[in-house]
Amino acid sequence: MKSAIHPIDILRWYLEAGVDETMGEQPMDRYAVTRAGKEARPRPPQTPPAAAGPHPATATPPAVAAIARHGNSEHRDGAIPGTAAHIAAGCATLAELRTALDGFDGLPLKQAASCTVFADGNPEAAVMCIGEAPGQEEDRQGLPFVGPSGRLLDRMLGSIGLDRGSAYIANVVPWRPPANRKPTPDEVAVCLPFLSRHIELVDPQVLILLGGAAATAVLAKADGINRLRGKWFEFNSPGLPRPIPALATFHPAYLLRTPEAKREAWRDLLMVMKKLAH
Ligand code: URA
Repeated sequence: MKSAIHPIDILRWYLEAGVDETMGEQPMDRYAVTRAGKEARPRPPQTPPAAAGPHPATATPPAVAAIARHGNSEHRDGAIPGTAAHIAAGCATLAELRTALDGFDGLPLKQAASCTVFADGNPEAAVMCIGEAPGQEEDRQGLPFVGPSGRLLDRMLGSIGLDRGSAYIANVVPWRPPANRKPTPDEVAVCLPFLSRHIELVDPQVLILLGGAAATAVLAKADGINRLRGKWFEFNSPGLPRPIPALATFHPAYLLRTPEAKREAWRDLLMVMKKLAH
C-alpha cells in the first residue's frame, strides 16, 4: 500500500533544508534578470569576480552552454556578467585564470572532481599541448597528463626534443569527469571560453591538439580525429595578436591501445618540429 506524504512533513523537510522564507529580503527586478539571459544573480560583496560563479551547481543551464559557446567571439563588454565568457575575458594573467577556474561553480562536473587540473609545463614555451580532461591520476595530483598516457606524451614530446620545461600542457576540461567518461558537448562548451583565454594568455607558437575532443573543441570542427589530424589549421581568438598554427594528432591514450597508429602520430610530430624550425 502506498503511504501518502503528509504536507506537514514536506514543510518540515523544507525547514530542515533551510527554506524558512518564501520571499527574499531585497526586492528583485525580475525583468532585469530575464534581460540578462536568466543568468545574472547578485554577486556577494567583496567576492572577486573570478570566484563569483553564479550558476546553479546542479545542472548546466542551456543558456550557460549557449553563452559559453560564443565565448571565443565575445568581448568582455558583450558577455553577460557571471558567465564563463565574461569571467575568462576578465582574467589578465594565468594566475587570475587559475583562480577564476578554482572559484567557478557553473559546472556540476567540478563538484565531483577533487581539484582543478589547470596546467603543467612552461607557459613561456613555444608549444602548447591540449588534451581532453584529467583522468584519475591527474585528479589526484592536480596536474595534467601524469598517468599512463602522460608518460607516453612525455616520450612523444621527447622524440622532437621537447619536455615539460619546453612545452606547456593543459586540457579542454580542467575537471575529471566521473569514471573517466568523455566530457559532454555542453561541458566542453562551458569550458571553452576558459580554454580560449588560456591559449590567448600563453600565446604559443604552435598548438598540439591531442585527440578528437581537443581537436573538435579548439578547431570548432565536427570531423573526427582521423580527418583532422596531420594538417595545419589556425586557431584565432580576439585576444591574440595573430592566429596560432594548430595541429591535431592522436591522443596518447588511443596510441596506448592502438600502437600501430604511432607511425602517423610520429609524422604529425615531425610536422610540429619542422614548423618550430621556421
Ligand atoms: N587524458 C587527457 O586528455 N588529459 C589528461 O590530463 C590526462 C589524460
